[in-house]
Amino acid sequence: MVPEPVGEYVSASANNVTKDAGTNREPALATRGLSKSFGSLAVARDIQLNLPVGGRYALIGPNGAGKTTLINLMTGMLKADAGQIVLGGEDITALEPQERVRRGLARTFQINTLFPGLNALEAVTLAVAERRGVARAFWRNIATYREAVDEAHEILVKLKLGDACYQPTRELPYGRQRLLEIALALATKPKVLLLDEPAAGVPQEESGEIFEAVANLSNELTLLFIEHDMHVVFRFATHIIVLVGGAIYTEGSPADIAADPGVREVYLGKRKHG
Ligand SMILES: Nc1ncnc2c1ncn2[C@@H]1O[C@H](COP(=O)(O)OP(=O)(O)OP(=O)(O)O)[C@@H](O)[C@H]1O
Ligand SMILES: [Mg+2]
Repeated sequence: MVPEPVGEYVSASANNVTKDAGTNREPALATRGLSKSFGSLAVARDIQLNLPVGGRYALIGPNGAGKTTLINLMTGMLKADAGQIVLGGEDITALEPQERVRRGLARTFQINTLFPGLNALEAVTLAVAERRGVARAFWRNIATYREAVDEAHEILVKLKLGDACYQPTRELPYGRQRLLEIALALATKPKVLLLDEPAAGVPQEESGEIFEAVANLSNELTLLFIEHDMHVVFRFATHIIVLVGGAIYTEGSPADIAADPGVREVYLGKRKHG
């Protein structure tokens, strides 16, 4: 349920909003009239979004509201019935998922299925090499190899995974595996990173660690995350979008959302968790 507008959360977030606003840059990501139905069930209804560069956006809403669907539409995993998705001013609606990734739109992957036998540094190095287009031959050229390893190491350190470099990915604690998934997404050098419940299944004391690492990433990176834990949402988001029944119910600063009695009502009695 939505917490009371607690002083520390509200003021910290409000400052961030002011800092991010006021630039004349294209939004990092925008949607126009984005719509999608599964049969007679409308799961995205005329979604208009503008995410300025560097924002930390939380996408919240009851179970089945269409949050994951919206991310799937943005990444191209699902095709929209109508509307546009615009990345940094470029219409990417018709592009395949891989082409969207190449242009700077990333989401996380499940590492267990991708790199089960590698250690963390090897896994991220491979992802870096893949992006640089040197994955097939990079080990033949020591300089190319070193650059890829250095970049991978830098990403791991940024996410506080420096000490996990030589651990096999499958042996990492679950929370660190989720961080590694984010590291792999960062290896694509995204401008926009989409995270669908990045701390799902992670013990609560570790989920703060995940969000803290993510929130401390570059101000040039725009983040959109789905999260059910409202304390995490209010601590890390600079802006909150509330989705209900496939439509944007409201959006605003954490202070606005906390003060909105309608949002409280949407959540009360309808939440499975959070
Ligand atoms: N491929 C699909 N085919 C048919 N219906 C689907 C499909 N994917 C999702 N749905 C339905 O669309 C609605 C929105 O689902 P979605 O997964 O986007 O919700 P969500 O907001 O992410 O929920 P949660 O908080 O539980 O993750 C739900 O009613 C779901 O059952
Ligand atoms: Mg979901």
